[in-house]
Amino acid sequence: MSTCPVSANAAAFDPFGEDYQADPPASLRWSRDEEPVFYSPSLGYWVVTRYSDVKAVFRDNVTFSPSIALEKITPVSAEATATLAKYGYAMNRTLVNEDEPEHMPRRRLLMEPFAPEQLAHHEPMVRRLVREYVDRFADNGKADLVDELLWEVPLTVALHFLGVPEEDMATLRRFSIAHTVNTWGRPSPEQQVEVAENVGRFWQYAGTVLDKLREDPSGHGWMPYSIRAQREHPDVITDSYLHSMMMAGIVAAHETTANAAANAIKLLLENRVVWEEICADPGLIPGAVEECLRHSGSVAAWRRLVTRDTTIGGVPVPRGAKLLIVNSSANRDERHFDDTDEVDIRRDNATDHLTFGYGSHQCLGRNLARMELQVFLEELTRRLPHLELVPGQKFTYVPNTSFRGPEHLWVQWDPAANPERADP
Ligand code: HEM
Repeated sequence: MSTCPVSANAAAFDPFGEDYQADPPASLRWSRDEEPVFYSPSLGYWVVTRYSDVKAVFRDNVTFSPSIALEKITPVSAEATATLAKYGYAMNRTLVNEDEPEHMPRRRLLMEPFAPEQLAHHEPMVRRLVREYVDRFADNGKADLVDELLWEVPLTVALHFLGVPEEDMATLRRFSIAHTVNTWGRPSPEQQVEVAENVGRFWQYAGTVLDKLREDPSGHGWMPYSIRAQREHPDVITDSYLHSMMMAGIVAAHETTANAAANAIKLLLENRVVWEEICADPGLIPGAVEECLRHSGSVAAWRRLVTRDTTIGGVPVPRGAKLLIVNSSANRDERHFDDTDEVDIRRDNATDHLTFGYGSHQCLGRNLARMELQVFLEELTRRLPHLELVPGQKFTYVPNTSFRGPEHLWVQWDPAANPERADP
């Protein structure tokens, strides 16, 4: 009889392997069924996969500290560290990885720009942008939606929301991919240095933009708002926080949403009946957005640090343990959602999903993201209802534990059948 406490499945778990990258919740079905809390020796993390356990961890941000949420999953080489130092890289805590008592006072001071009435102002800009981008390719009959629509629109929206200039999109695109690999990926030593160069430049860029905004912080956007808040509460909104948030904010608002949109459109086109339903009745789109976020969210897993000896789902977990809480697995837990693998846009508990986290750190930008997803679906179903996935394409994902979306999404349609041609 084996005495090893690590099961064969746990030992084999590889979040950088093909199975997890292709479909994290499906690759962890065995865990939800047999071993919902397990230690992964290769990762050095405890992995939590059932809905009730993931939610309980999110709910208690004192026992389960978010301080490691952005920690590098692959230790940084000395060379990469030296490269980052060359750029004066000093990324500090932002809201998402901050413990109490610091976190809540900051969150309260900074949350007003996320209120629904404030977000409503952004909707016309989002719709105008989506229309402009769709105009560019509507007559082509074929497009990579990631490259031609879904990457740049959320980036532009993120920049507008933050109040930063729109220049240097291509550079920013490279920067933010580098940031994902830097934080959640498993880069080789050579890649680490290249990634560090881009992260360092990203950091400097963020500082330059911040300096520009400080000169005149009267404008719209979350960063000018934060700079103004700093004047009244310099102890709560520090310089280090502002510089870190400037960079982290772009990634938080951009990649998450771009990936969520790509996942959603892919999922709906794979479920043609559902796609046709939302084309026929756009009133179903809000339900479709929520169901896509549940079924194929763009944040597959998040992290917490255990601050005292405790139990999760009855399993003892020691103080100091690192947790990979797989919210995408929770979202497909058969114990919480009926017919969990089905895409059911009328599901009455779809909003229970944990794609935006839960509790005191729950995503502040969730309604902005929902609005963007809604506009993408409204415009695409109206303009290109006959859209279909290019058959036979292989979807690839940037290998990492947490941010998830296809790198390319090739679609095709017959431009002669575009509705605006028939009814301009
Ligand atoms: C936090 C996901 C879009 C800003 C988070 C967290 C997750 C998440 C998982 C951590 C929650 C926790 O620890 O409980 C997503 C997804 C998005 C998205 C899946 C898109 C589909 C956005 C956007 C913005 C944004 C558009 C900004 C405009 C933030 C901020 C936090 C956060 C500021 C930190 C909140 C805190 O710790 O108090 N998000 N996010 N996110 N997100 Fe998002």
